[in-house]
Amino acid sequence: MSDNILDRFKETITETKVDASHKLRIGIIGTGWIADAHIASYLKMPDVEIVAGADLIPGKAAAFFKKHGIEGVKTDYASHKEMLADKSLKLDAVSICTYNTTHAVCTIDALNSGVHVLLEKPMCVTTEEAVEIIRAEKASGKVLSIGFQPRFDANMQMIKKIVQSGQLGKIYYIQTGGGRRRGIPTPFGTTFIEKETGGIGALGDIGCYSLDMVLVALGYPKPLTVSGYKSAFFGTRPDYYPNHPEYAEKFGVDDFAAAFIRLEGDIVIDFKIAWAMNMDTPGDTIILGTEGGLRIPSTECWNGTVGGPMKIYHEVCGEQVETEIPIIAAKKNEPSLFDKKIRSFLDACKGLIPTPVPSSEILYNQAIIDGIARSAELGREVKIEIPEI
Ligand SMILES: NC(=O)c1ccc[n+]([C@@H]2O[C@H](COP(=O)([O-])OP(=O)(O)OC[C@H]3O[C@@H](n4cnc5c(N)ncnc54)[C@H](O)[C@@H]3O)[C@@H](O)[C@H]2O)c1
Repeated sequence: MSDNILDRFKETITETKVDASHKLRIGIIGTGWIADAHIASYLKMPDVEIVAGADLIPGKAAAFFKKHGIEGVKTDYASHKEMLADKSLKLDAVSICTYNTTHAVCTIDALNSGVHVLLEKPMCVTTEEAVEIIRAEKASGKVLSIGFQPRFDANMQMIKKIVQSGQLGKIYYIQTGGGRRRGIPTPFGTTFIEKETGGIGALGDIGCYSLDMVLVALGYPKPLTVSGYKSAFFGTRPDYYPNHPEYAEKFGVDDFAAAFIRLEGDIVIDFKIAWAMNMDTPGDTIILGTEGGLRIPSTECWNGTVGGPMKIYHEVCGEQVETEIPIIAAKKNEPSLFDKKIRSFLDACKGLIPTPVPSSEILYNQAIIDGIARSAELGREVKIEIPEI
């Protein structure tokens, strides 16, 4: 993965009609790589005041805000708990930008302390964690939105429009996934690849996007069973990291996963995802319906862009025809997907719009990911069981 991925989020936002008379007081939990993108977007919002930041690594949060030229931010906290306990901050909301394995504890603690939460993807690591998060959300009455920025991409929204229009008829089969030939994410260290911090590998990191792309279009049907596979043939090779052969020893997650997933409504998903593989792409996403099929050219999962114009394969007057759906380009000065993710979260905190990416949907995404991991470990199909919330 290229190290300048975040540069693609640094487009400018056009002036929006935002009521800046009341500023939302924001804290950042975890001041690593993705926190840069959060801060860059928050700084463009006229109704935001960044008041605090916490990181487990001493001095990291202070250096982070200094790098961004923001003064007066309180950072003298040993963990997220201390920051949330500081009532002098009068926090309205936090961005949780920690590695995957601390998503659940940070989110639950933040909701319990009465603040709104924007939680980075993947939601967490296990289904049980996702359930605990949603219980805390319900008890708190606060906004919890999960950080899936591709949701704000017009092409991704078009997929949903096509499926929901009924043009494709009854959907019965989906092939989806994504991946890279070589792209294990270690630009800033090993938090993605260690079991204790990443928890899950490609499966959760980018698999969550491919699944969301199709599940949101379908209206998030309930997952029933999954037969999963995962492997780690690349991440565990010292020669994979010419400058850091020692990373191979630390690699404790998957770098490839595949699964066959059954959903309510007699729909199946054939899924594959890779941080590394001996192939350029695992193929296009295809959605088969009784009246039409949709081809979505192989897409980079994380940023929502499609790999070329989509095509609907259908029949008109008994003839088999194809309709091309042109790529919808971003308008000049249109806010970046990341800016839209942050703006919509803030608007939800103000009660102006519903929660942009609700946990109730992503619960199913997480349950599938967890199901794939469990099935792969057991070597057999598993039922997806979600505890009562
Ligand atoms: N939306 C996107 O496009 C995108 C892109 C990259 C990463 N992410 C997600 O963002 C998350 C963070 O990724 P990253 O690359 O920034 O990781 P990172 O390792 O660079 O940063 C995480 C930071 O969180 C801190 N932390 C962990 N637990 C904490 C706690 N309890 N209290 C305070 N600080 C804590 C760590 O010390 C670390 O500095 C991951 O879940 C990842 O999947 C999203």
